[in-house]
Amino acid sequence: MQPAVAESSLTPSVTEFIAARRKMLIDGKWVEAASGKTFTTVNPATEEVLAEVPAGDKEDVDRAVRAARRAFESGPWRRMTASERGRALWKLADLIEARTEEFAQLETLDNGKPLTVARAADIPLVVDHFRYYAGWATKVEGETIPVSVPGMFTYTLREPVGVVGQIIPWNFPLLMAAWKLGAALACGNTVVLKPAEQTPLSALRLGELLDEAGFPPGVVNIVTGFGETAGAAITVHPDVDKVAFTGSTEVGKTIMQQAAGTLKRVSLELGGKSPNIVFADADLDSAAEGAAAAIYFNHGQCCCAGSRLFIEDKVYDRVMPKLIEYSEQIQVGPGLDPKTQMGPLVSSEQLERVSGYLASGKKEGAKVATGGGRPKGLDRGYFVSPTVFTDVKPEMKVVGEEIFGPVVCAIPFRDPEDVVRAGNETTYGLAAAVWTRDIQKAHRAAQLLKAGTVWINCYNAFDASAPFGGYKQSGFGREMGKAALELYTQIKTVWVNVGA
Ligand code: NAI
Ligand code: MG
Repeated sequence: MQPAVAESSLTPSVTEFIAARRKMLIDGKWVEAASGKTFTTVNPATEEVLAEVPAGDKEDVDRAVRAARRAFESGPWRRMTASERGRALWKLADLIEARTEEFAQLETLDNGKPLTVARAADIPLVVDHFRYYAGWATKVEGETIPVSVPGMFTYTLREPVGVVGQIIPWNFPLLMAAWKLGAALACGNTVVLKPAEQTPLSALRLGELLDEAGFPPGVVNIVTGFGETAGAAITVHPDVDKVAFTGSTEVGKTIMQQAAGTLKRVSLELGGKSPNIVFADADLDSAAEGAAAAIYFNHGQCCCAGSRLFIEDKVYDRVMPKLIEYSEQIQVGPGLDPKTQMGPLVSSEQLERVSGYLASGKKEGAKVATGGGRPKGLDRGYFVSPTVFTDVKPEMKVVGEEIFGPVVCAIPFRDPEDVVRAGNETTYGLAAAVWTRDIQKAHRAAQLLKAGTVWINCYNAFDASAPFGGYKQSGFGREMGKAALELYTQIKTVWVNVGA
């Protein structure tokens, strides 16, 4: 029997929000798709239809881009001071914070993640992210340049890029919207945002707060729809100046090609197959617990998931039982159940994808140390048990490819010098971690690992101030921190003839 899901515990505003057919936000107005088409989102814990939203396409994107262009060139946004932009971002953070419970419930219903996690992690991180970029709005500065041309005074202006298209994924729906919007708005851009088709609800709810926060119409437009239609329309649109994308490496490559037609700027935050390295001298209890958290957080649907766990062979037999114990203790169930620690995967496609990897691992000869399929007693919903593969070989698909589910490959290693090379043996380079008490070994590994983030004796540490992004085919451009200002500004050099 499926545990009873406390649907009755939803706050009335959430019940109302999902019951009404949603509209999308273009030029400050809530509108249907031009085609009148809609699509439905599904609650991954129950497989039932959750809500109906407009299926935006080319024409809707075009309207949104025109609204964003007007807002950028001639609207009140243009005349707002940096301080006023900062205050709007801060107000948006306050408005979201006051509705933490409502947003957390929407994330759980749409994405499947435990409500306890959405409450404690996703929504507070969103709030903090907007506050952080509220502060940056007044600190985007140019420079004066000591040019060697007599009689010239030369300075730079750091100006917004213009109309920005932002295409976001479903794993952290509201947080990914915040990562994209915060820096873009702090720098004075206008936006056409496309949430993932699996999880559009929290972004639409955020849209309802923009006016009260003080963002003029057209500054943020939210077009719901599919990737191949609405998403592609954004990336080819001649009047979109930049595209920021988070999602699969495959679609990242398509976006780069599509953006080439109009030479848009592109920033891509893509997949990963991050190495998590446990040296024999580590605190093995924290390393084992950290290894479990590295792969199971968000059900493994994290671009930075620690999916290749390298364990020094001397301690392999001490770490593995702990990892397996953690894996088996995790309470898998519907996100609304307060006891749940891991919810369902986001969609039937994702369940199929992950199940395909489980089958492929077994077929190629990997051993299932724990998990490997659907948890007992959960007959509805897109659930997968926390899974550990052992006896893997580098050429297996489960070792080489991003699974994006709660599946880790445990790999013993003998040579501490060689493990970093093995860790780097991937086309990806998003994150990596090392566990050791030896500071020299730790920092040396951090230098040698080809990844945009390296964690030492921790995993999944994030902060609005700390840049995040990929090496190699995990993408390029850094979100968060001061680094994100680079994505959303361009430099203008001004020469002034002041006389000899
Ligand atoms: P996806 O890359 O297809 O979707 C991400 C976003 O891109 C969505 O908003 C989607 O509508 C949009 N999109 C898709 N095709 C597009 C196109 N041709 N032009 C413009 N936009 C487009 O990811 P999907 O199919 O949901 O998941 C597939 C795999 O991608 C996952 O198994 C995982 O490996 C990876 N992924 C990585 C994420 C990350 O955080 N880096 C997030 C989501 C998925
Ligand atoms: Mg896709």
